[in-house]
Amino acid sequence: MSNAFLTPDQVGTESFFRLAIGFCTACTMVQQLEEVPRGKMFHTDYPYRSSGSALMRKHFEQAALHLLETELTGNDAFAVEIGSNDGVMLKTVKEAGVRHLGVDPSGGAADVATRKGIRVRVDFFEESSARLIRETDGPADVIYSANTISHIAYIDSILRGVEVLLAPNGVFVFEDRYLGDIIEHTYFDQIYDEHFYLFAVQSVQALAARFGFELVDVERLAVHGGAVRYTLARAGARTPRSSVREMLARERALGLADPATYAGFANNIAKIRADLVSLLRSLHETGHRVVGYGATSKSATVTNYCGIGPELVAFVCDSTPEKQGRLTPGSNIPVWSPAAFSNPYPDFALLFAWNHADEIMAKERRFRAGGGRWILYVPDVHIV
Ligand code: SAH
Ligand code: TYD
Repeated sequence: MSNAFLTPDQVGTESFFRLAIGFCTACTMVQQLEEVPRGKMFHTDYPYRSSGSALMRKHFEQAALHLLETELTGNDAFAVEIGSNDGVMLKTVKEAGVRHLGVDPSGGAADVATRKGIRVRVDFFEESSARLIRETDGPADVIYSANTISHIAYIDSILRGVEVLLAPNGVFVFEDRYLGDIIEHTYFDQIYDEHFYLFAVQSVQALAARFGFELVDVERLAVHGGAVRYTLARAGARTPRSSVREMLARERALGLADPATYAGFANNIAKIRADLVSLLRSLHETGHRVVGYGATSKSATVTNYCGIGPELVAFVCDSTPEKQGRLTPGSNIPVWSPAAFSNPYPDFALLFAWNHADEIMAKERRFRAGGGRWILYVPDVHIV
């Protein structure tokens, strides 16, 4: 599992699963074929912390401010966030004095949010917990979620929970990585256990309709290599914006409902694997030192799919204390603090956190100034 960073004594005890996606010709959903039990992924020690990136802190502050201005304007407005993690979004809602509740099963991340004064329920959001929240707190004007709904295989229960909890004119707003960008730029590393669904406007529209909701707005976001923010309202409650129609037309042009598109995607992925492995092997044979940068969830797919271990990438540096001193899942590459990067600088750095390229390259500008080179592998393998 992509966030199951191991302590050295856990080597050899890891669980594996088959990572493969399928396309439903009936509802156009793209999803994993095998489900990892949720308790294996999300628990007290889940290491991911949303606030680790300045870019994401800013992104979620803006998202919260927008909701505060447009939806959370009533006297006793109430916002619920599914997957609130360390409170990166709700912090701004809390500071505005607006009633809120974060729901997240990962106790460690929730503790961080609680210490910021944010109200969190350590739980999985689903139909049963939504009923309990509705009983104690009343209806929600906004149910918001980022990079979480795509993680939840039992999505029917989520939509039924939203149906129970949402106020009559409330909105369910969620954002997730966008299938269109994943296909267009061969972001194959966005496919990992937690990303159970790869949403597109076409599939979210069909999903909403099954539960009496309507997709009324979509917005393209630049984060995580390309995401979309979907706004759902109760069917008939709001007039859909033209953005929905426009994005659906774009998806038709991109062939997102055509199985041949997925065959082409598979070919592009295989080419990246061949190119990356051959580059790393030749660097190894010529005595160059390569380290990884960013122990991302995405890197689990890259290293395991390509068969990259510590012989090709000596270690990975990452700023998340919860990941440091551990080994990457499956590929067992040590994770060290970014302080190890310059001590001494490697010849090449494989940038697993390519979605934070600007932030990381600016922070590590001395590496390049001293002759170091970054290796990127999407949309194709290249050196900068
Ligand atoms: N919203 C944050 C966190 C995304 S990580 C961000 O965008 O950065 C996904 C989060 O979803 C994790 O914190 C995980 O614990 C949480 N999660 C997983 N299943 C959930 C569920 N059923 N209900 C609520 N949160 C869930
Ligand atoms: P993220 O982009 O959330 O990727 P994923 O969703 O695939 O897990 O993770 C970025 C990782 O990179 C995270 O573990 C923190 C790390 N990181 C650094 O080490 N230094 C940095 O400057 C930034 C921005 C991130």
